[in-house]
Amino acid sequence: MGLTLGDVDLDRVATLTAREESEFRSRRTRSRELWQEATEYIPRGVPSSFQDTPPQPVFIDHGKGSHVWDVDGNEYADFHNGFGVMVVGHAHPAIVAAVESQMHRGSHFAQPVAENIVVARELARRFRQPQWRFTNSGTESTLDAIRLARGFTNRERIIKIEASYHGHHDALLVSVEPPVDAMGDADFPNSVPMTGGIPASTVALTTVVGFNDLASLERAFAAHPGEVAAVIVEPAMMNIGFVLPDDGYLAGMVETAHRHGAVAIFDEVKTGVTIAPGGATERFGVVPDIVCLAKAIGGGLPCGAVGGRADIMATITDGKVAQLGTFNGNPLTTAASRATLLEVLTGQAYSHLDALTEELSGGLRDVMSEYQLPFHVVSMGARGCVTYREEPVRNYRDYAAMDKSLAYISWLYQSNRGVLMAPGAEENWTLSVQHTSDDVKRYVANFRELARDLKA
Ligand SMILES: Cc1ncc(COP(=O)(O)O)c(C=O)c1O
Repeated sequence: MGLTLGDVDLDRVATLTAREESEFRSRRTRSRELWQEATEYIPRGVPSSFQDTPPQPVFIDHGKGSHVWDVDGNEYADFHNGFGVMVVGHAHPAIVAAVESQMHRGSHFAQPVAENIVVARELARRFRQPQWRFTNSGTESTLDAIRLARGFTNRERIIKIEASYHGHHDALLVSVEPPVDAMGDADFPNSVPMTGGIPASTVALTTVVGFNDLASLERAFAAHPGEVAAVIVEPAMMNIGFVLPDDGYLAGMVETAHRHGAVAIFDEVKTGVTIAPGGATERFGVVPDIVCLAKAIGGGLPCGAVGGRADIMATITDGKVAQLGTFNGNPLTTAASRATLLEVLTGQAYSHLDALTEELSGGLRDVMSEYQLPFHVVSMGARGCVTYREEPVRNYRDYAAMDKSLAYISWLYQSNRGVLMAPGAEENWTLSVQHTSDDVKRYVANFRELARDLKA
């Protein structure tokens, strides 16, 4: 036996992975053809580089309810749910009706519509922020939040958390998953650009600190007195698995920001309306100064929103800060958003999601204990993941030290047995209101098969 994790033999993982990859490819030949054809016109053959993951992209044909079908005819229970967007499930009748009805009445005017007020009022109620503006993606929401914070404070520096992803604009595409040999000291992490094309002067304005580490945050403020406009966090990190805030961390982060005259921003693009009706703000009982939303609030249409304290949002009212966009609050997204928030994601829907999560997490825990696997489950509302180590992951340094081969083989097992998961060790599952106990049982059965094969 070679390298092991607990008593899981990593050589065995490698052998099973090769078998599953070959099975995966053999059942996705049409996807492969399309992928190759696409590369003639589309770099890497995919619309976003996140969609090009090993062993190959899967082209989807259609989705209905909690299931999707790929172009090779493979059917899946969908736990990927479009990177956490489709909490309503696919082709939900209420969303279809809302969008169809709006299409007949016109899909775009670049003029306000009455429904904007309905959606803003509901977001204000859920997230306890009085004023809202709309955007078209999570990237736009965090971009606007940063601009608001800079405009409000007349400062330029941003503090972000190591390994948080906040979308693809320059200021925050820093230390997203920095290479281990470049990330620097844990007490003073380096600011590492994720991609070419970002000016060094922009990277220099982004200071990086560890998650769940108030001392590191305090040090960052001390190193840049009077310079910091904002601290932005994913209140629960969902781009390195699912990392929960320590008790008191979020309240401490907001208090620290305020003590230094900075604005506290929660990026709730993934947590918003998924881990609770009012996202992390509600679940952890901490209200920041600005909340960024996108993904699940739009029922599957491109969407986003940024909400904030009255005095911060007043910088838009008085013209100090520009918040703009041709498609902001467009009627189609707004109709879908209204139906999502008011008709689909009801109290009953959240009870259903909680019950499914409990069944799924409980089933996975039973398998782990039966096969004595040194893993654990993190879950909350519609979201969750298996973490492939025994101890909780508290920050990127913990995550970076983990062996990713188990996450990958688990993804392959699920894919080859009718469960679509978001690719990558860093991803987690998303349940929808249309998921059933049968979907959850399929997930657990696949995990059991993996456990059995790992321990065979
Ligand atoms: C926490 C978080 N913020 C922002 C974004 C960016 O959202 P979008 O891809 O809609 O621009 C993402 C995307 O995954 C995200 O996970």
